[in-house]
Amino acid sequence: MEATSAPEIVLEAKGISKHFGSVQALDCVSLSFRKGEIHTLLGENGAGKTTLMNIIYGLYQKDAGEILVNGKVHEIRSPRDSLQLGIGMVPQFFKLVPDLSILENIYLFMEKTKFIIDRKGAKAIIQQLSEMFGFGLEDKIDREVGSLTEGEKQKVEILKILARGSKILLFDEATNVLAPNELDSFLQIVKDLNKSGYSIIYITHRLQEALQISDRISAFRKGKLVGTISGKEATLEKLTVMMVGAELEKISTVLPQEKGRMILEVKDLNVIDERGLLALKNVSCQFYEGEIVGLAGIEGNGSNYLAEALIGLRRVKSGKVIYRGADITRSLPLHRMNLGMSLMPSSNALVPLFSVRDNSILDYPEKPPFSRHGLLDRKAITAHAKRIVTDYQVQTPSILLQAVKLSGGNRQRLAIGRKIESNPKFMIAYHPTKGLDIKSQSFIYEKLLTMKKAGMTVLFMGADLDELLLVSNRLMVIYRGEIVGVFDDLRSVSKFDVGVLMTGGSRREGGAKVGN
Ligand SMILES: Nc1ncnc2c1ncn2[C@@H]1O[C@H](COP(=O)(O)OP(=O)(O)OP(=O)(O)O)[C@@H](O)[C@H]1O
Ligand SMILES: [Mg+2]
Repeated sequence: MEATSAPEIVLEAKGISKHFGSVQALDCVSLSFRKGEIHTLLGENGAGKTTLMNIIYGLYQKDAGEILVNGKVHEIRSPRDSLQLGIGMVPQFFKLVPDLSILENIYLFMEKTKFIIDRKGAKAIIQQLSEMFGFGLEDKIDREVGSLTEGEKQKVEILKILARGSKILLFDEATNVLAPNELDSFLQIVKDLNKSGYSIIYITHRLQEALQISDRISAFRKGKLVGTISGKEATLEKLTVMMVGAELEKISTVLPQEKGRMILEVKDLNVIDERGLLALKNVSCQFYEGEIVGLAGIEGNGSNYLAEALIGLRRVKSGKVIYRGADITRSLPLHRMNLGMSLMPSSNALVPLFSVRDNSILDYPEKPPFSRHGLLDRKAITAHAKRIVTDYQVQTPSILLQAVKLSGGNRQRLAIGRKIESNPKFMIAYHPTKGLDIKSQSFIYEKLLTMKKAGMTVLFMGADLDELLLVSNRLMVIYRGEIVGVFDDLRSVSKFDVGVLMTGGSRREGGAKVGN
């Protein structure tokens, strides 16, 4: 038998656990990273990928487990420790100073190393690295970072950690900020870095991308490591099953129902994002009274833009939003709220320093009975707050407690109570159970179902297929700003069918009908 030497392990996570409140973000995860490999981490929103990266990079402290770097256990208490060990992270949200030049941004980051380098020396190093990996920033090195494109800023972030001497590079959803035309050159850079000996841990939601660059791929689900496979044996199907679960059987038990009256129609909606790129492309869909429509989409694929465009917080480029026959495409949010539209956000739906009582009427203080002749009626508001606290089981010692002191689940119960008690006719629930424990999650499903029974319409946006299939009557799938599938009858639909569409695969024969 031929002897094969075991691959060298540069980084190892052993039995890592981490909780936030009642959420178990990581549950005894053990995973090793080999020297010189591109190791991709996959998993639904909230699966724990970023938490693991943050622990390795020293931004979070683990509850249990060990991190080994080059075979030795290290306590990583801050990014300073991890940088010292040769680990660098390209953050999802850049940490650059816009008024400083590329050189100054990188130099600031370099200075803390044990090597004393002068600006001239630093400039030479940066230029050399930029040239070596085809970044093309050599001539822009004195330009202010604020004037760069997102793709260029990302290159500056990469240069920062390279110049600091990192050998293990962590990329968390790095391609989300890139325009489509920047994607290929970015992936090439990752491959080139890898060829030069860097070890890379790469988080993405895009399975095609994972297939394109990975030596190995690990999937996470709900805080646990599901498994690891080699890039060679990986296929779109295998990765989808790893991500969303092995259940290929039909799982939805929600029966299709007669459509009620149409309440909202979206016609060929196009929306531009902050970078001037199309965030929604010709989105068309209809909603009917008394139904829950799921919108399955991984964050970053446009569901937030749809939520904002429908509620009036984002201008549309073209297309129409028709509500009960009236064109509201250009209406203000307040007008839409008065018509009965409402948005239930995933978090931050409260003013943290306001009391539970004041938060209970946050977006409708002017409505009777809370306001009479321009004066607030404390008694009416108190009664309303007390009712929400009771009916929505908000655990609080008093309605005068500041909302910031409530636990996450209780904050969400209060926010949802406020939204539902305003009796909306059309509710957009945007990742409403994010970060909540199972009990609070079920509570929210129950409330959504109650709304539906009362004839309201719910557009339930989320990424967790278990919950979407549990409560939705119909389901749409959004991928890169387009509705890529609509399922009107969910009895024959599996998580796999939906998962494939969510991650950029094409549908199987007899699966979804293409949305418009
Ligand atoms: N700082 C925090 N405070 C409270 N909860 C947190 C915090 N960071 C993460 N969580 C929770 O831990 C869980 C795992 O989150 P994490 O960010 O690691 O997921 P992820 O796999 O990176 O998801 P995504 O694909 O959406 O980025 C989630 O339920 C999340 O809400
Ligand atoms: Mg993440």
